[in-house]
Amino acid sequence: MISLLYLLVSAQWLVSSLGVQLINQDKHVVMDNGILQVTLSNPQGHVTGIQYNGIENLLEVNNRESNRGYWDLVWSGDGIKRKKGLLDRIEATNFTVIEQNEEQVELSFTRTWDSSLEGKVVPLKIDKRFVMRSGPSGFYTYAIFEHLQGWPAISIGNIRMAFKLNKDKLHYMAIADNRKRFMPLPDDRLSNRSQVLAFPEAVLLVNPIEPQFRGEVDDKYQYSSESKDIRVHGWICRNPATGLWQITPSNEFRSAGPVKQYITSHVGPTSLNVLHSTHYAGADLILNIEDGEPWKKVFGPIFVYLNSLSHGGDFQKLWEDANKQMMTEVQGWPPNFLASKDFPKSDQRGNVSGRIVVHDRYVNDKSIPAKGAYVGLAPPGDVGSWQIECKSYQFWTSANEDGYFSFNNIRPGNYNLYAFVPGFIGDYKYDNVIAISPGSQANLDDLVYEPPRDGPTIWEIGIPDRSAAEFFVPDPNPKYINKLYVNHPDRFRQYGLWERYAELYPDEDLVYSVGVSDYRKDWFFAQVTRKKDNNTYRGTTWQIKFKIDNLDENGTYKLRLALATANVAQLRVGVNEPSKNPPLFSTGIIGKDNTIARHGIHGLYYLYNVSVPGSLLLKGNNTIFLTQTESISPFQGIMYDYIRLEGPPT
Ligand SMILES: *[C@@H]1O[C@H](CO)[C@@H](O)[C@H](O)[C@H]1NC(C)=O
Ligand SMILES: *[C@@H]1O[C@H](CO)[C@@H](O)[C@H](O)[C@H]1NC(C)=O
Ligand SMILES: *[C@@H]1O[C@H](CO)[C@@H](O)[C@H](O)[C@H]1NC(C)=O
Ligand SMILES: *[C@@H]1O[C@H](CO)[C@@H](O)[C@H](O)[C@H]1NC(C)=O
Ligand SMILES: *[C@@H]1O[C@H](CO)[C@@H](O)[C@H](O)[C@H]1NC(C)=O
Ligand SMILES: *[C@@H]1O[C@H](CO)[C@@H](O)[C@H](O)[C@H]1NC(C)=O
Ligand SMILES: *[C@@H]1O[C@H](CO)[C@@H](O)[C@H](O)[C@H]1NC(C)=O
Repeated sequence: MISLLYLLVSAQWLVSSLGVQLINQDKHVVMDNGILQVTLSNPQGHVTGIQYNGIENLLEVNNRESNRGYWDLVWSGDGIKRKKGLLDRIEATNFTVIEQNEEQVELSFTRTWDSSLEGKVVPLKIDKRFVMRSGPSGFYTYAIFEHLQGWPAISIGNIRMAFKLNKDKLHYMAIADNRKRFMPLPDDRLSNRSQVLAFPEAVLLVNPIEPQFRGEVDDKYQYSSESKDIRVHGWICRNPATGLWQITPSNEFRSAGPVKQYITSHVGPTSLNVLHSTHYAGADLILNIEDGEPWKKVFGPIFVYLNSLSHGGDFQKLWEDANKQMMTEVQGWPPNFLASKDFPKSDQRGNVSGRIVVHDRYVNDKSIPAKGAYVGLAPPGDVGSWQIECKSYQFWTSANEDGYFSFNNIRPGNYNLYAFVPGFIGDYKYDNVIAISPGSQANLDDLVYEPPRDGPTIWEIGIPDRSAAEFFVPDPNPKYINKLYVNHPDRFRQYGLWERYAELYPDEDLVYSVGVSDYRKDWFFAQVTRKKDNNTYRGTTWQIKFKIDNLDENGTYKLRLALATANVAQLRVGVNEPSKNPPLFSTGIIGKDNTIARHGIHGLYYLYNVSVPGSLLLKGNNTIFLTQTESISPFQGIMYDYIRLEGPPT
């Protein structure tokens, strides 16, 4: 049957060099542009085959047809008992050809909802689209999700496009210039070849099929990336040299801003395009749709790109070529050839440009350009709300050296403009709502960000950039190495670093002396728990020692505590007294982003201001005590982004 299909499809080759063909079979449809053939199940709309470069199927042929290339989501609602929600692999019930000509084929696979499906499938109308054009070596996919009036409330934890690739062929994974490697095989993770570590996702490969992986840790969370960096990623087959890539030219449809982290790829071989998830953020990022709330969102398009080396050569060239193709797709954004009216074309979108400067009078009398600022348009909300926003669209760009920024191709709608600036704490929000309409062009002259600041810096620890990467990140335990991250800037992605704290500080907790200590060496990147002999954990108290020569006993000092992550943690602050009750300040229990276990260097960002009355300080030596109280597991704790003590206003 499969070889018959192969013959049939091969026979189309010559003919189809003229354009795109659509071949209707009994339970499948095939899109063929003479370069590749993509087979979809009809009417379910799962990608069951990708034939290219003489490879009959780049997807895993031993998997069921519904488990090869698919859109899915994880949802919950009233009466759903499963705590983690239900996985819905979005099996469509209706197939429609939207467009078919020599230039282009666009297919639609839809499923709607009625009350007979209550509790079985997610109450959403879903339209999965697949587009093939003559010329490009690949295909586009996007999906339109809609919740209608009268439909029950739902919570969505995860939305993805997933490809389970052919495990005999695709062994080399590439997700960034410096994050590429041969990957272990899926069988290496079986219980007779591996040993589960602190959680099931992380295993030690004890008897892998290829000995080169022996002794390595494998964990999919070591391959997550920030949204802004997930523009092209994929897998390579060496023989014949072939690449399969997911290109995401815009992340307007991804949740939660440019630094939200998503998983990209993992042993399988699996290539994911996660468009919404709670990873590295927690419950704050569950997408909640109310009972009867009308909601619609377009996810994608994603371009699935195939490439090959016709004359041999270094297979790394496939990664370089995929990056070139990514730039082409970025420049071609938005693709005006998509048929859905829910995806606005370029002339239906608007532009915004402007300039942002920072004014911090304790740094500079004058305003200075907000060099490298992340500037975003997101739905109107509170300052910083974009980091947990997931129902609508967001547009992000970076300001240049002089603080100038521009956005093109914004979808019509109302937005707030938000920004955060590396080197400065806090969040900027422009107070006016910006209304984008087709063809609109807004220019925002000097926007001035005044970061939180009451007085001069007495001392500071770290760099305010929402990450703990500048602090001391230890070497991993030699038993738990991922070779990719040896001598690598992302050393924080190694497994098990949380255990290194108690090894480095076996008896006394960390003490940092201002003026003597160096945060790059003397400030552990995470304030984690300490394991006791009997497998229980303890909170820790870190100390910052500093001297004040000219004390203003009547003034108010300010401690700025910027956190890069928190996981079921509570930070208490004491000044010259470690355990006063109540403490001078407590965050309360915060965070559930699980960043420590998932080898991240940041999750959600928090900024706290603690007023310190001068009467609590001493002339001469002082100590600030930072106690993380919560201690049930090794994964509880916080990461600091930056800490500053300010003197009273001058
Ligand atoms: C399938 O889609 C077509 C075109 O949108 C529509 O006319 C038809 O009613 C749909 N059928 C079902 C069963 O939803
Ligand atoms: C491991 O287990 C799988 C199935 O559970 C089996 O097929 C395989 O042969 C086993 N491998 C080894 C090395 O024992
Ligand atoms: C928006 O910017 C793009 C790119 O610079 C430009 O081609 C387009 O004409 C602009 N649109 C408007 C309405 O100014
Ligand atoms: C911290 O202080 C700044 C102003 O100095 C203020 O904008 C911000 O809301 C404060 N944050 C908290 C959490 O109190
Ligand atoms: C574990 O040991 C600590 C001291 O190291 C002790 O305080 C605690 O009670 C012990 N917990 C259990 C459950 O035995
Ligand atoms: C602080 O206030 C007290 C009472 O008002 C006053 O006596 C003292 O001189 C003040 N100290 C300074 C350094 O201003
Ligand atoms: C203050 O701290 C410094 C450095 O830790 C120490 O050498 C000095 O003895 C301390 N002074 C007093 C008065 O405790």
